Amino acid sequence: MQNMKNTKVSAMHERTMMRRPSSFVEENYAREVGAYRSSRRLMPLLLLGDAKVVLDQLPESSIDFAMTSPPYWGKREYEGGGIGLESDYRDFIRHLSDIFLSLKRALKSEGSFWLNIGDTYQEKGLLGIPWRVAIELTDRQGWILRNSVIWNKVKSGMDNTKDRLGNIHEHVFHFVKQTKYYYDADAIRSKPREARIVNGAVVSATGVSGVRYKRQIELSTTLSEKEKREAFKALDQILADVGAGVISDFRMIIRGQQRATHSDSEKVSGRAKELRDRGFYFLRYHPNGSKPADVWDIMPEDTQSREAHYAPYPVDLCRIPILATCPAGGVVLDPFCGTGTTLLAARDLGRQSIGIDVSRQYLEIVEERCATLL
Ligand SMILES: C[S@@+](CC[C@H](N)C(=O)[O-])C[C@H]1O[C@@H](n2cnc3c(N)ncnc32)[C@H](O)[C@@H]1O
Repeated sequence: MQNMKNTKVSAMHERTMMRRPSSFVEENYAREVGAYRSSRRLMPLLLLGDAKVVLDQLPESSIDFAMTSPPYWGKREYEGGGIGLESDYRDFIRHLSDIFLSLKRALKSEGSFWLNIGDTYQEKGLLGIPWRVAIELTDRQGWILRNSVIWNKVKSGMDNTKDRLGNIHEHVFHFVKQTKYYYDADAIRSKPREARIVNGAVVSATGVSGVRYKRQIELSTTLSEKEKREAFKALDQILADVGAGVISDFRMIIRGQQRATHSDSEKVSGRAKELRDRGFYFLRYHPNGSKPADVWDIMPEDTQSREAHYAPYPVDLCRIPILATCPAGGVVLDPFCGTGTTLLAARDLGRQSIGIDVSRQYLEIVEERCATLL
């Protein structure tokens, strides 16, 4: 998450000040959160204060999902104090970890925490802050790290260095509290294309009709006659499954024909054994589509030519985390909410949300953004 531009923020802040009084909660946080949850309204609840102080007052196990991007260490330009300006990065990591321990207490046991965190150079050395924080959380606080997503920002920002590569990625870590947690993989699958019938034959979404495989089986010099008969039968069955929508697509691996996708060692790979014993195997595609992988290509907010672009933490970065790990009716929390991108994503996806920030100015911008986007 890059630094926000103070000029843009100030202009927005001035406009907000002219519009209406703000309605942030500055005390009795727990009571206000309770009232907000019962109201079921989707407009975010904004809590002004230090993240740790506020989190420590929230009821235990009351939050379904948290996602945040804390300030960079040593690069902050934000208003209102807060963390990021410690002279030693180790103090920054300690402060941040303290806050995440308080967050853990407030998070439900099946809850998820997604952390987008940027790195910093010091005397030419990349500090590795994201992983230092992740290891602190797993080793000292008992969080389980489920994924380390690489956010590929596609285009790098200004970089005048002449002795290293440009930096184009950041980490988004997915932490959980226990091995059993809420996860809706179907909510984030890409929609599969459907099979078609061409000239009376089933053709899968990616154009697999079985004709090529049949020819390969027929002409194979490495399959026995019995294996060929078995392979034809299995191929007909899988084509029938595609036609019936039981699977969306498949690939057939035939001994001596395709490049194998398994380890060659029959000791470690069931597929290698299948290929040895039967002469073929299938790769079946999930009928609900494929799951996203852990590299996401998402342009930073200010390069997507949207009007409201105060910070390059894009709304799109929050979509997969919320859809997969915040149940419908659950509540989203961002303890460093800044201009409220996580909260806007939550609202767009029909979830209630709570934002904490130490800066009144930023919370005013959240209100403005919410009003504008209604
Ligand atoms: C990187 S920004 C978050 C940007 C946000 N993702 C957005 O979409 O705008 C970090 C935010 O953390 C806030 N902050 C810093 N220290 C804090 C603390 N101790 N408690 C609460 N907020 C804090 C800053 O005011 C800033 O708004």
